[in-house]
Amino acid sequence: MSVDHSLQESVRDAYDEVAEDYAALIPDTRAESAVELAMVDSFAASVGAGAPVLDAGCGAGRMSAYLAGRDLAVQGIDLSPGMVRMARRDHPGLPFVVGSISDLPYPDGGFGGVLLWYSTIHIPPEGQARLYREAARVLQPGGYLLVGCQSGSGVHDTAAIYREYGHDVTLLRHRFTADDIAAWLDDAGLTEQCRLVRRPVGRERDDQAFVLARSSR
Ligand SMILES: C[S@@+](CC[C@H](N)C(=O)[O-])C[C@H]1O[C@@H](n2cnc3c(N)ncnc32)[C@H](O)[C@@H]1O
Repeated sequence: MSVDHSLQESVRDAYDEVAEDYAALIPDTRAESAVELAMVDSFAASVGAGAPVLDAGCGAGRMSAYLAGRDLAVQGIDLSPGMVRMARRDHPGLPFVVGSISDLPYPDGGFGGVLLWYSTIHIPPEGQARLYREAARVLQPGGYLLVGCQSGSGVHDTAAIYREYGHDVTLLRHRFTADDIAAWLDDAGLTEQCRLVRRPVGRERDDQAFVLARSSR
């Protein structure tokens, strides 16, 4: 499946528009619950201290900083130059670049871990298999991938949330189940290690799904 460039441009423009507020409102992992941070900690421990890790769709860099705090050699990539600007501003010790998780600008097999934390959500189901193949391609044999996203099916329009902060953006997000993800992982040569599905908390509308997988190459 080829990349939908006009969709990518629209997502990029939306995140450029909201970047300052996103960085201010969600500066760290306080929005994450203890169980999902346990998944991130498990990912970090599996990858191992000092290993190169890619925060793929890093946004303003809060998860990169969390992983760096667990002694991983993390770097971030994001579609939105505005979000990357925030990441560089707020986490000046970490490397961040602009790029797409659908076309990762890295050679094969360079990373011990890849994190896809709520960064696959703006790509429709038909574009998902490609993301996991790209992640698998840049993973070392035996490397780990952790994905987190809203669980379920169908599409949610997130524009209303951003309107509360004065932004007029077009931004849809898709829900995927852990079973959907497991099938894309399998197609990409990644083996599911464990999964977590938790119920919504606070203003969340959906269950949240997290899947840890390992490269079987
Ligand atoms: C909901 S935010 C999550 C950001 C970050 N992972 C976090 O947890 O704070 C989604 C991010 O994914 C990025 N994104 C969406 N599509 C992308 C793509 N095709 N390639 C790279 N980044 C993408 C957006 O620019 C945005 O920064």
